[in-house]
Amino acid sequence: MKNIVILISGRGSNMQALLNDQLNCNIKAVISSRTDAAGLDFAKGKGIPVAVVANRDHPDREHFDAALLREIDRFDPDFVILAGFMRILTEKFVMHYKGRLINIHPSLLPAYPGIHTHARALADGVKIHGCTVHFVTPNLDHGPIIIQAAVPVLDNDTEQSLSSRVLHEEHRIYPQAVRWLCSGKVRLGMDGKVISGSSSNPQGSSLISPSLEVT
Ligand code: GAR
Repeated sequence: MKNIVILISGRGSNMQALLNDQLNCNIKAVISSRTDAAGLDFAKGKGIPVAVVANRDHPDREHFDAALLREIDRFDPDFVILAGFMRILTEKFVMHYKGRLINIHPSLLPAYPGIHTHARALADGVKIHGCTVHFVTPNLDHGPIIIQAAVPVLDNDTEQSLSSRVLHEEHRIYPQAVRWLCSGKVRLGMDGKVISGSSSNPQGSSLISPSLEVT
């Protein structure tokens, strides 16, 4: 069975979704970049070893990433899962985990990399928004995509209502992506593209937003 380490920085609801799922892997540890991350207590309650590598204890990104890498590698993970981990990682760190470092991002990448994704989607008036699980590459929020979920943007949406609709989908697609990775069904190919065992998805359906009127 594959080993994973989950990295968080705060609330940790995606981490909770992973811990609550029937994953086909060993969750070896949850590591936080903040001592006050709310998610740490949940992980402890589930009996998962937790650790903190606080960015404020390190003078720069290089030192922080080196300390984080040492802590992660104590657990010898096959995959490192970023679940609301809000630090930009150095190229050296990312390349150390090439093909093994996974992130979830609250937008339909490549749209809206970076922060404030929901506010930016609302400001642009897009009708469909969503979330993406992808392999991490040195190019921030641009790695090869494993799975995405789309949601409609409603006329009366606020940043809060839209983010909670997207978060609900995050909690569905992240466990699925981790299961695919741990079963070997999905991996990163030598050409940097995602290799997926399932060639087509008969259950996929279109999302039209606003919906078509029935005539
Ligand atoms: C999630 O919406 C996640 O997609 C996002 O932070 C939130 C963390 O929530 N991640 C990023 O923006 C990374 N670029 P959580 O701590 O409750 O999982």
